[in-house]
Amino acid sequence: MLIAQITDLHIQNGGRHAEQIQAHAHLETCIDTLNALNPRPDLVIATGDLTEHGRADEYHVLKQLLDRLEIPALLIPGNHDDPQTLRECFPSHGYLQSDSPFIQYAIDDWPLRIIGLDTTIPRSGNGRLCESRLAWLAATLAQAPEQPTLLMMHHPPFETGMRRMDDLGLLEGRDAFEEVIRPYRNIERIVCGHLHRTIMCRVGSTVASTCPGTAHQIALDLRPDATLHFNFEPPGYQLHWQGPHGLVTHHALIGDFPGPYPF
Ligand SMILES: [Fe+2]
Ligand SMILES: [Fe+2]
Repeated sequence: MLIAQITDLHIQNGGRHAEQIQAHAHLETCIDTLNALNPRPDLVIATGDLTEHGRADEYHVLKQLLDRLEIPALLIPGNHDDPQTLRECFPSHGYLQSDSPFIQYAIDDWPLRIIGLDTTIPRSGNGRLCESRLAWLAATLAQAPEQPTLLMMHHPPFETGMRRMDDLGLLEGRDAFEEVIRPYRNIERIVCGHLHRTIMCRVGSTVASTCPGTAHQIALDLRPDATLHFNFEPPGYQLHWQGPHGLVTHHALIGDFPGPYPF
């Protein structure tokens, strides 16, 4: 099984930095890149911050763009999203539909079980996994304790060393989350967004990672007093390939670069 992860699309209709970031054009390029991949991924996962403001007009633009994607896609919300508006604007995405205030789901259609978690707090940049969401996760993991499983969530469950982003991290429920997942050896990976760059850390018995954004990246700066900046390092995505020894992750850049040259 081959999964392409994209994240932090930040689609917006005008607004602050819209002209500079060009999120719409970047996502078009990303979709063209994914459609041209050979072998083609079985699935695309988009790990939150799908829009900048969580507005219906932004989700309609996102939907038009994603309609060009020739690969099935699974979405989860990030702190810039509005889960209920996302749900309403993607009625054909049945897995998003439920009476729960949270967008959480498990998909058993592929060799790798996919579990989506909702770490959002309304009108906050921080993340939270409350008792209700963790109880759902515990019950869902218990349903298939042997099945290779991929967890996806927007806020990573680890501190990155980028202090200003850690201040906007999974501040509530992180330790309880680790307690829930620790007994499960079948969790291949926890894939996340929010950081707009690739970072990895062991969490419980598995590895958690973040993914580059499709448009702008967050500047790497580990100074404790660093302020937050974005930049235009090449956008990227990740390819998660289920090999004989487990899930293997390839970091890939989007753009035209010199080469390839034969050895
Ligand atoms: Fe983001
Ligand atoms: Fe975010």
